[in-house]
Amino acid sequence: MNATLLLFLSIYIPALVANGSPTLIRKGHPVDLGAKFLDGRRILGDGKTFEGFTLGVLYATSVALTLANLLGEPLIAYYGAVAGVGALLGDMTGSFVKRRLGVERGEPLPLLDQLDFLLGAYLATSAAGYTPPLHYAAALAVIVYVLHRATNIAAYKLGIKPVPW
Ligand code: CTP
Ligand code: MG
Repeated sequence: MNATLLLFLSIYIPALVANGSPTLIRKGHPVDLGAKFLDGRRILGDGKTFEGFTLGVLYATSVALTLANLLGEPLIAYYGAVAGVGALLGDMTGSFVKRRLGVERGEPLPLLDQLDFLLGAYLATSAAGYTPPLHYAAALAVIVYVLHRATNIAAYKLGIKPVPW
């Protein structure tokens, strides 16, 4: 594998981990503390919790440290952790946008639901000094979108999830 792609993947895998791990939290304390915005709707909603955020940061950082060790590149630990935090902030920003549009917690908003975390990771790593090649980021966005849809539809058909999104 070429070095540019390997670097990209090792920094963005922690972002994927950060995005996936909060779902393990069944119930936590909402980051918005239950508060409402000017429009009378929740700022973020019950789907964004301190516990989910903390777990996401811890898992993403662990994976980033492991990859940095394996590949002998300490910067991967730093950028991977940044990507993880960026992903979680991007996901929260996505929820903020959904609430402002009147979309309830857990209701779907296609594209934003699947890609907000990736945009957050992209902006965060870029701000920290690692701007990924745009074609890699775009390819990852397509892969994430397709896998997200496919796994949720499969989970719905298997009766694991109540809704197909
Ligand atoms: N989660 C969490 N804390 C976070 C992010 C996610 O606890 N910071 C958990 C919540 O249990 C959430 C689940 O992961 O329900 C799935 O995340 P997501 O799909 O982003 O949340 P939704 O419930 O769909 O809420 P929203 O409409 O705000 O996206
Ligand atoms: Mg959701």
